[in-house]
Amino acid sequence: MIDLSTRYLGLALRSPLVPSSSPLTRELDTAHQLEDAGAGALVMHSLFEETVHREQKALEHFVHFQSLGHMEADSYLPVPDDYLSELDDYLEHLRALKESLEIPVIASLNGISDDGWLEFAREIAAAGADALELNVYYVAADPEVTGEQVEARYLALLRQLKSEVELPIAMKLTSQFSSVANMVKQLEQGGAAGAVLFNRFYQPDIDLETLRVTPRLQLSSPAEALLRIRWIALLRSRVGLSLAATGGLHDAEGIIKALLAGADATYLCSVLLQRGPGYLATLQQEVIDWLETHEYDSVRQMQGSVSQACAINPAAYEHANYLEVLQSFSHYS
Ligand SMILES: Cc1cc2nc3c(=O)[nH]c(=O)nc-3n(C[C@H](O)[C@H](O)[C@H](O)COP(=O)(O)O)c2cc1C
Repeated sequence: MIDLSTRYLGLALRSPLVPSSSPLTRELDTAHQLEDAGAGALVMHSLFEETVHREQKALEHFVHFQSLGHMEADSYLPVPDDYLSELDDYLEHLRALKESLEIPVIASLNGISDDGWLEFAREIAAAGADALELNVYYVAADPEVTGEQVEARYLALLRQLKSEVELPIAMKLTSQFSSVANMVKQLEQGGAAGAVLFNRFYQPDIDLETLRVTPRLQLSSPAEALLRIRWIALLRSRVGLSLAATGGLHDAEGIIKALLAGADATYLCSVLLQRGPGYLATLQQEVIDWLETHEYDSVRQMQGSVSQACAINPAAYEHANYLEVLQSFSHYS
C-alpha cells in the first residue's frame, strides 16, 4: 500500500493532489466528488477585494439614503433583510464544506490593497478554515512603481493578514519578479507558511473586427508546468516553507515531476474543469502506479529527490545547459 501523505502549510494531507480555486470548489456537490476521488485538501474559490469593497460601498450608500429618507429613489439597492452578501455567502459555503468534508479546507482571498478588506480573514478563520491562501492579482503597469515597491505590497498584505489571523497563510505568486527566490525568502521571513507557484494571469485579447480589448480565459496547457517545476526545484533547498505547484499540471507525469522537484502539494484546476472532478482519482492511480513501478513506498520518499540540491546535474536547473539546448535544435529541412 503506497503512502501518499504529505505535509502542506503544517497540515497533514492524505494526498498531495489538491484541487485549486475554481468553480469546482465553489459547489458543494463537486467538492464532495473531489474528496471522494481522493483529494488531499481543497482550496475554495476566492473572495475578491473588489466584491467586498463594492458591497461595503453599496451598504454605506444604503445607510446614507435611508437616514435621508430617500429609499424609494434608490430602489436598485438590496433590502437588508434579504441581503446575503458575498461574504456571508462565502462564510456559509465554508461552514458547509467544513461540516461535510473530512479533508482540510483552504480559504482564498484575492486582492491587492491593505485598506480594510483583509479584516474579513477573521471571520473566515472563525468559520473554520484550516488555512488561508492570498492571491495577489497585481499587474505592475505603472512605470513609476519600482520592483521594490511591488514586493513591499506583498509583504504588507502578508503582515496585515498575519495581524488578523493565526491561520497558516500561503501566498499565491506570479513568476514576474526580478528575483522570485528572494521574494519567496522574504515572504518566508515575514511568516508565510507556503508559496503557491505560479499564478496565471489571464491575458486580454484584441478582437480584430471590433478592435476592442476582450477578456479571455484560456485554460492552461501541460507545457506550463515546467516553469513551476523548475522554480520548485531551485527553491526547495533554499527555503523552508511549503511549496505548491499550480499551473499546467494535467497528467500524472507533471504531478510526479513536481513532487520530485520538491512540491509539497500539486494543485489541479484546468484538467479537472476539462475532464470532471472524478478524473482526480485516475491521476492519483497513475501516480500510485508510477511509485510502485519505481519501487517507492511513499510520496515522501521521492519528494524533492530531483530538487536542485539533490539532482545528478544541478546546474541544468540554471543557465548551464542553455547553449546545449539551443545547439541541440535541429532545424526544419
Ligand atoms: C475558471 C477558473 C476560475 C478560477 N478562480 C480562481 C479563484 O477564484 N482564485 C484563485 O486564486 N485562482 C483561481 N483560478 C486559478 C486556478 O486556481 C489555478 O491556479 C490556475 O488555473 C492554474 O492552474 P491549472 O493550470 O491547473 O489550471 C481559477 C482558474 C479558472 C480556470
